[in-house]
Amino acid sequence: MCGIIGILGKHEAAPILVEALKRLEYRGYDSSGIAAVKSDGSIDRRRAVGKLAELQDKLVFEPLEGKAGIGHTRWATHGEPTEKNAHPHSVGHVSVVHNGIIENFIDLRQELSMDGYKSRTDTDTETIAMVCSKFIDEGYEPIDAARKTLSKLNGSYAIAMLFEGHENFIFAARSGSPLAVGYGKNEMYLGSDALALMPLTNKISYLEEEDHAVLTREGVKIYDQKGNFVSRSVTYLNQSINAHDKLGFNHFMEKEIHEQPKALEKAIKSYLCDGETGQKINILEEVNFQNISKVILVACGTAYYACHVAKYWIEKIAKIQVEIDIASEFRYRKPPLARDSVAIFVSQSGETADTLAALRYCHGKVLKIISIVNVTTSSIARESDQILEIHAGPEIGVASTKAFTCQLAVLLLVTIKAACDKSEYSEKRLKATINELKNLPSSLGRYLENINSIKDVAYKLSTADDILFLGRGLMYPLALEGALKLKEISYIHAEGYASGELKHGPIALIDDTVPVIILAPSDELYEKSMSNMQEVIARKANVILVSDKDGIQSAGLNGQDTIEMPCIDPLLTPLLYALPVQLIAYFTAVYKGTDVDQPRNLAKSVTVE
Ligand code: M6R
Repeated sequence: MCGIIGILGKHEAAPILVEALKRLEYRGYDSSGIAAVKSDGSIDRRRAVGKLAELQDKLVFEPLEGKAGIGHTRWATHGEPTEKNAHPHSVGHVSVVHNGIIENFIDLRQELSMDGYKSRTDTDTETIAMVCSKFIDEGYEPIDAARKTLSKLNGSYAIAMLFEGHENFIFAARSGSPLAVGYGKNEMYLGSDALALMPLTNKISYLEEEDHAVLTREGVKIYDQKGNFVSRSVTYLNQSINAHDKLGFNHFMEKEIHEQPKALEKAIKSYLCDGETGQKINILEEVNFQNISKVILVACGTAYYACHVAKYWIEKIAKIQVEIDIASEFRYRKPPLARDSVAIFVSQSGETADTLAALRYCHGKVLKIISIVNVTTSSIARESDQILEIHAGPEIGVASTKAFTCQLAVLLLVTIKAACDKSEYSEKRLKATINELKNLPSSLGRYLENINSIKDVAYKLSTADDILFLGRGLMYPLALEGALKLKEISYIHAEGYASGELKHGPIALIDDTVPVIILAPSDELYEKSMSNMQEVIARKANVILVSDKDGIQSAGLNGQDTIEMPCIDPLLTPLLYALPVQLIAYFTAVYKGTDVDQPRNLAKSVTVE
C-alpha cells in the first residue's frame, strides 16, 4: 500500500526521494508526491497521478529545491487518485505524508471548520496537517504541535512531517503502521519499509507502536507514548540482498517463481537438525501437540490458501481439529477459543491489518500465538509468542508466489512435528518424508526448466472471459489459489471450486467458451476427479488437465490440453502443483499485456482493513 520516505541530508533531496520511491513502487500505488523545505524556509511540493514517471516528468520542468524532504506513494482509500488527494498534504506551516487511516477525520474536520479551517481534499490525511497547523497558529512550537496532534488522532498511522522555516528536522510517528529510521553520515532517513532505505544505509531502527521521533542530521531522538526518551535497537540490513534487480527475468513475479527451489531449500533446511538416528525436524520444540485440542489458522488471500492446505494436512496426518478463517471475518466473528489451542497467523509481509487484528484478538485466550512470516521484524512477528520464518527472501511482485510455497513448507513441517508428538508418524515414515522434502527443491528446479506446454495453454486462456479451476482434497485450495492468481494479474474472471461441488450450482456456467483447469494428480481422489471432469466435458467445456504421466494416460482424453507434472509423494503435491498454477497466471497475464508486478488496484502489503 502507501509508502513513505524521508531524507534530511547534505544533498538536494528530490532525486534521492524519487529513487527511494521507486523502491516502494512494488507496494502498489496510484499517485505520488514529494515536498521539501527550501533554503528560504518555505515548503514546496510536486505531486502527480499515476506512475512515478509522471512525477519525474514534472520535476524536469519544475525542479524541487531543498535538502530536507518527504515523499509518498499513495494507494487511494479516502478520495480518488487525483493530484489534489496525493500526498504530501501541505496546510499552513506543515506538510505531511501518511500511511494508514485516521478514523476520526470527519469529527476533526467538523471541529476545524468551526474554527475557520476548511479542508481542500477528500483525504483523512489532510486533517493531520490541519490540526498541527492550527496548534502552531495557537503559538505552539512545531514539535509540541505535532505531539499534541498525535493525541487527537484515532486510527492507524505512520507519519512524516516537515515544518515551514525548519530545514533541520523531520518529525515522525507510528501507530499501527510500520516506520523505520535510517542512519547515515550526517544524514538521516525515514522509510515505511526497510527495502526503500537499503541503498542509502544498512543501519536502521524500527519505531515501536506509539513511538514518535525527531530526526536531525546528527541523529534521532525517539520517544514513547508517554513522551519518555527511549532507545530502540539498531538492525543491520543484509545488503547482499538485491531485491530490486530482476536478474534477467522479465518481471519480478517470473524471477520469484524461479527462485522457489532455492527459497524452499533454505526454508526446509532451517528446520532440520541432526538427531541421534539421523536428521530430525526442529520446529516448535516447546509445543507438545499431545496437549493441544485445536489448531486455529488465520490469514488473508494466498496466505489463507496455505492455511487451507494445512487444514487437510494437520487433520489427516496429526489428527488434530483445525479451524481456518480469513482474518477479516475472524476478527469480527470473535469466536470462543479453547485455552489449550494454538493460534497460527500466516503472513508474508507480517503487516496485514486484518491478520494483525485477528492475532490481537487471540492474546490471552490461547496457549500460544505463532506467526509464520517472511519479515521477522514485522508487527505480526513482534506481537506473537513465537516466530517461524519462511526464509523466502524479499517478494516484490504483488502476486505472492515463493512466499506461498515457503509457507506451505513450514506448515508441513509443523504438521509432521504435531504428528510425531501424537505418535501418528513412525520413525521410518519421518526419515522417508525428510528425504522427500530434501529432494523437493531439485524436482521443482527440473520442472521449471521445461514449461513450454504452459505457455501454449496460457496463450489460449488469454482470450477467455471466465475460467474455472477444479480440485479435490489438497488440490481444492490450489484451485482457489489458481483462480486468485489469475484474476489478480490477468484481470480474467476466474473461480476455484471443489470438483464435487460443481454440480451444486457452478456447472450452469459451463459451455464451450469456459476453460476448466482440473488439478488432479493420480492420488486416492483421482477417480472422483475424473468423473467430475467427464461431467464438464459432456457440457463442451475446454478442459485442461494438470496431472502426472499416469494420470494423463488414464484420463482417456480426446484432444484436450494437458500439463504434465512429475510424480511426487502425494503429501507434497501442493508444493509442486503451485508452480503450474502460478505459471498459468503469469503467462496469461503476459499474453494479455497487463502490469504483472503491479496489477491495477492491488497493494503488496494491505495495511488497512
Ligand atoms: O502479506 P500477507 O501474506 O499477509 O498478504 C496477504 C494477502 O494480501 C496476499 O496473499 C494477497 O492475496 C496476494 N496478492 C496474493 O497473490
